[in-house]
Amino acid sequence: MANNTNLGAAKAAKNDEFYTQYADIQKEVNAYLEYNPDTFRDKTVLLPCDDPEWSNFTRFFAQNFERLGLKRLISTSYAVESKKYKDYQPTLWEQESPLFDPDKTRIKGKIFELTRDTNQNGRIDIDDLEWHYLEGDGDFRSPEVCKLRDEADIIVTNPPFSVFLPFFSWLINSEKNFLIIANKNCVTYKELFPYIKANKLWSGRTEWAGGMWFETKDRNDIDRIIDGVPMKNIPSIWLTNLDHGRRHERLSLMSMKDNLRYSKHEDIRRYGYIKYDNYDAIDIPYVDVIPSDYEGVMGIPATFLDKYCPEQFEILGIGTGDSAKELGINKNYRGRTDLSFTNPETGKPSCPFSRILIRKKA
Ligand SMILES: C[S@@+](CC[C@H](N)C(=O)[O-])C[C@H]1O[C@@H](n2cnc3c(N)ncnc32)[C@H](O)[C@@H]1O
Repeated sequence: MANNTNLGAAKAAKNDEFYTQYADIQKEVNAYLEYNPDTFRDKTVLLPCDDPEWSNFTRFFAQNFERLGLKRLISTSYAVESKKYKDYQPTLWEQESPLFDPDKTRIKGKIFELTRDTNQNGRIDIDDLEWHYLEGDGDFRSPEVCKLRDEADIIVTNPPFSVFLPFFSWLINSEKNFLIIANKNCVTYKELFPYIKANKLWSGRTEWAGGMWFETKDRNDIDRIIDGVPMKNIPSIWLTNLDHGRRHERLSLMSMKDNLRYSKHEDIRRYGYIKYDNYDAIDIPYVDVIPSDYEGVMGIPATFLDKYCPEQFEILGIGTGDSAKELGINKNYRGRTDLSFTNPETGKPSCPFSRILIRKKA
């Protein structure tokens, strides 16, 4: 199972053209508005890997410009000649524009901006988008897109998988608010986890289970055709530093005694909670068996982050790399990611690198 997921992620990394569904963006953004209706009010939102001809991000934010109370919407697109996937025809919309330039269309990025009611029909929406070609190809790292990042308040996108880590560093170093899509596995990366531990990065509203469905341009890599549209399921999640209500909902948990008696997981009823031999913590194989009354440290799968409420739990670290060193996790384990993480010498279970170490808050 884990291997399939990794294979899927590796394949996805070769192709960046996955497009987010409008309903997924709407569902996620609505959660921030429910929590704070002014989340986007008077803000400049930058969509740095988007193109209104393809992207529902531009469509959603432009259509909801007034409802969100936006000050300025900017989206930039990447030149087709710089993309990995080059099967592209300029849309009629671009070709019919007086700004269309056949020499520039394939090699230059584009910028689309929405600030005012250009067609004077009484509302600001997608028909008021103004655009022009960028100087360069629209790479998010280019000076002109970096300048737009610095002008923005909130950065929103589904970034290219093939350059996710450079993108994340570009984003986090900007110290802006953001809402992005990422592969589920990346929460344990050493480049991201410290921000999660420090409560500077957390899961968005949408639950992690089931992954997300994206429209794909790669005809050879389709999971399903929905309403004539080729779709791909990718184990993706939303990551953000914008607050939302689900993040503050405490998990409802049973005591250790009740779990040992009534848990739906047979291994917990049979074997109880296993103590690691290389770290003073117990193993929690499933989020729903976290005991409500255990005061010590617990090692738990990363899917816990989908349910993490910072008022209920403290994240202490992860069983790998510098974090493991800081926690004093002894290295004498094999580092298996499955459940057979038993130390071959002692025959006792060891805290594996895949576990996040947490403790209940008082
Ligand atoms: C995963 S797609 C997401 C598209 C869109 N945001 C959506 O979900 O509807 C990422 C987009 O970023 C573009 N891209 C790839 N490398 C880029 C770069 N270095 N700078 C800017 N955009 C890039 C890809 O061509 C692709 O269109």
